Amino acid sequence: MASTGEGWYIAGPMGETSTSGLNGGRFLFATALLGAGVAISQFGSNGVEQAMICFAAGLVAIVAMADLTSPAKRNPQAAAPIREAEIKPISQHRDFTSFIDGLADPVLVLTGTNVRRANSAARKLLGEYCVGEDIRLVIRHPAAADLLADGSAAADGPIQLVGIGSRDQRWEMLVRDMPGGERILHLWDRSGVYAVERMRTDFVANASHELRTPLASIKGFIETLEDNEAGADPEVRARFLNVMFREANRMQKLIDDLISLSRIEAEKFRVPDTPVDLPDLMREVQTVLRHSQPERGADIVLDVAADLPPLRGDRAQLSQLLHNLVSNSMKYGHPGTPVTMALRSSRNGALVRLSVSDCGEGIAPEHLPRLTERFYRVDSSRSRAIGGTGLGLSIVKHIVERHRGRLEIDSEVHRGTTITITLPADPRAAPPEPSGTNPDMAVPA
Ligand SMILES: Nc1ncnc2c1ncn2[C@@H]1O[C@H](COP(=O)(O)OP(=O)(O)OP(=O)(O)O)[C@@H](O)[C@H]1O
Ligand SMILES: [Mg+2]
Repeated sequence: MASTGEGWYIAGPMGETSTSGLNGGRFLFATALLGAGVAISQFGSNGVEQAMICFAAGLVAIVAMADLTSPAKRNPQAAAPIREAEIKPISQHRDFTSFIDGLADPVLVLTGTNVRRANSAARKLLGEYCVGEDIRLVIRHPAAADLLADGSAAADGPIQLVGIGSRDQRWEMLVRDMPGGERILHLWDRSGVYAVERMRTDFVANASHELRTPLASIKGFIETLEDNEAGADPEVRARFLNVMFREANRMQKLIDDLISLSRIEAEKFRVPDTPVDLPDLMREVQTVLRHSQPERGADIVLDVAADLPPLRGDRAQLSQLLHNLVSNSMKYGHPGTPVTMALRSSRNGALVRLSVSDCGEGIAPEHLPRLTERFYRVDSSRSRAIGGTGLGLSIVKHIVERHRGRLEIDSEVHRGTTITITLPADPRAAPPEPSGTNPDMAVPA
């Protein structure tokens, strides 16, 4: 195999056998000359003549042999440019199938519009029997039709395809002409990149929307207060200022939550390493919420097991996690019903399980998978009315991920919700895990 600079081709073995016949002839000729020189020198009379004849015959023999051993003769391919007829299609190389099968992306080889080869990723995506089919039937996509047509020129760059494989998958397709008359088709899965890009634009749009709403409200109230008649009434004035203060607080909470999220995300690869006394932290959160929201705060109940293994983490982030979960249970649980913070350890002491549960309205199952998305709320207008940003559970999820833990949400409509966080105990202090035990199964329900 060799490269022309444009692509790969396989050179045929032509020329080697034909030149070797010619070289053999020259070798015989050189040997005959040398023999003749030696014979003449044997039968000649003069010593100087004999030496001259012998020297001339040897010289001619060396020139003939040197011609035979030149690089061009040893490797005829290096000397002569390879003719078009000598280039074999790339798919005929004996290692080609194992080469393309080793690639994760779908790759197909086309002759005209016919699929000649498909690697395993392509067969998995387009069907096991795509080889031998017309590519326009295999990839039925309007955007690809022109490019796949027989003899069409390869596009400058890749083209975008949606819906091959599953409905939401996005691909980039590249078709390149190869020496030997074949075309290589490469599909590149861009779904992940597209999803990240989509998340980013959605996030910016949502954040702007969440900020714009209270800002518009504040501006409206300022305009009203500027009006001499309304602004002069102390009762109206006090009411409007109160709403403006609430809206400003909402904006501040949103900005604080956004900053928290980006800080937690920025640190996600650094596992927190400070010893944290979780029962003490739970008592602290209970005290703070009892003072700040005495009505509902009185319903907070602590249920902490004895003999808990030590834990390492980020105390401030774990406090934020507890505040977010308990606040949700206070907000969405029925007044007068308990909000329980419980802490247990797995039987082998390798995990701790922290749960916050309430007896409230619960969450319908269709919302559960989306609850930790940024700005996702079951009832947006209600959440906004009580000052929610829709970022609380998203922050919880990121804190759990940073602590290498797991988050589970169990909820039943009209019964209540339990959110459970499983965190690894400090491995330096925990006793070794007995073999054959699944620590998760050992955690009491
Ligand atoms: N314990 C719960 N019971 C019922 N619904 C809940 C509970 N916890 C969360 N939810 C639902 O999940 C949604 C998302 O919760 P999240 O904490 O992320 O946002 P929020 O509470 O609306 O606002 P924030 O926490 O930012 O103040 C809530 O709007 C609510 O609909
Ligand atoms: Mg919340």
